[in-house]
Amino acid sequence: MNKISILDIYKQNNHLNKLITINGWIRNNRFSKIGISFLTVSDGSSTSTIQVIAKKILCNYFTEIVKLTIGCSVLISGHLKLSKGNLQIYEIYALHIKVLGWINNPDIYPMSAKQHSIEYIRSYCHLRPRTNLIGVISRIRNTVFQSLNQFLNNFGYLWVSTPIITSIDTEGSGSMFRVSMLDDNNVNSKINYIRKNNEFFKKKVFLTVSGQLTLESYACALSKVYSFGPTFRAENSNTKKHLTEFWMLEVEKSFSDINDISVFAEQLLKNSVADVLNNCMSELLFLQKKIDNTIIHRLNKFLEINFIHVEYTEIIDILLKNKNIFDEDILWGKDLSSKQEKYLVNNHFKSSVIIQNYPKKLKAFYMRVNDDNNTVAAFDVIIPQVGEIIGGSEREDRIDYLDYRMQEIGLNNKNYDWYKDLRRYGTVPHAGFGLGLERLVLFITGINNIREVIPFPRTVGHADF
Ligand code: 4AD
Ligand code: MG
Repeated sequence: MNKISILDIYKQNNHLNKLITINGWIRNNRFSKIGISFLTVSDGSSTSTIQVIAKKILCNYFTEIVKLTIGCSVLISGHLKLSKGNLQIYEIYALHIKVLGWINNPDIYPMSAKQHSIEYIRSYCHLRPRTNLIGVISRIRNTVFQSLNQFLNNFGYLWVSTPIITSIDTEGSGSMFRVSMLDDNNVNSKINYIRKNNEFFKKKVFLTVSGQLTLESYACALSKVYSFGPTFRAENSNTKKHLTEFWMLEVEKSFSDINDISVFAEQLLKNSVADVLNNCMSELLFLQKKIDNTIIHRLNKFLEINFIHVEYTEIIDILLKNKNIFDEDILWGKDLSSKQEKYLVNNHFKSSVIIQNYPKKLKAFYMRVNDDNNTVAAFDVIIPQVGEIIGGSEREDRIDYLDYRMQEIGLNNKNYDWYKDLRRYGTVPHAGFGLGLERLVLFITGINNIREVIPFPRTVGHADF
């Protein structure tokens, strides 16, 4: 039995006129009175479907085949032929069709053939991968993930896994989820009393907001490292660009500085976009038709234009010169709003921007303080459509400065003694950044809401499944 995927049919040219077997799900079933059914079958291996011709000579034609509806799963054997019609290239002339799974009550099947809104299919996250749109996004997300790993691997970066359960608040923003065994339903119970006094880890622990600090310890020994995993932010940011659980790629490099690492960040981003253009053309054509009719042009333009490096202070001057456009106050020391970011990228620079050297009070304690003692060697990469996609910096490698910053911010010095060891013992200049995977997939696909580019989105009030 020559069992192949639908992608194999279109990619390999040695199956024509041969007996093949495929598995898949019915997308459509048209049957004529003369006893012939045209089944459209998909198996998720690509955007393509295959037409299967089933005739009444098949033993289960009247008992099963004419009853097949969208979503039924099947195993089909038959001869692959060139199609006589001009809607498709190939057809399978079925010799045998086995129904593996029926749809209970097709009238109420949530993924019926009707055009559904994105919000509607989001309410069925467990069934939505059956739609073309989520299939396309999943394949692009996979290509981006593989591309990022491969690029780093090619440049000699070592993959390191950093812990998800942690006692440190890397970003110092306090927006962490506590991990606890306390029983909420029994606040005053004996068991809670015991657990409280014997915390599982003998201390308070949380879900990580970033693996950076532990990653630094590996960079300070192995030079070039990265981690890639889920991170958690307990922020009440209910926007189209924020998730509570998202995937972050973190890159850390010793003997590096802000210029070196930000140029590398641009190359990494562009390489992943180029890989999608090279490997996912049918997915992009689908999105071009359904979501964003400029997608291919937009991605090619992204590759052509060099990112512009600008100082934060210069950005404030630019915004002040155009202050009538914005409702909010523009002040040195304030974070940029998404409207301001959009203006800079789309109108002022007409390019992605790397903003560097931010006021230290806007950024985390670990960023290296500049000679002016007011700014830190931080950078954010701002791209069209999504705004901030990467945040990074040089790391403070001088122990006295680090101590001073921790005191200034009010961090518990005791928890970070191990981190200070990295500066006590053979400290090195080093730098790194974090890239939000979903923001990158959002940019590439042109999708409007980040909830569509992660399989099971977690946002304020939503943690289904
Ligand atoms: O700028 P952030 O907070 O940087 C860090 O966590 C650093 N420790 C990274 C490092 O230097 N190793 O987050 C990095 C990126 C952002 O630029 C954004 O792309 C993404 O992570 N991100 C989010 N994506 C989705 N939902 C959220 N709530 C996000 N918060 C950050
Ligand atoms: Mg940031």
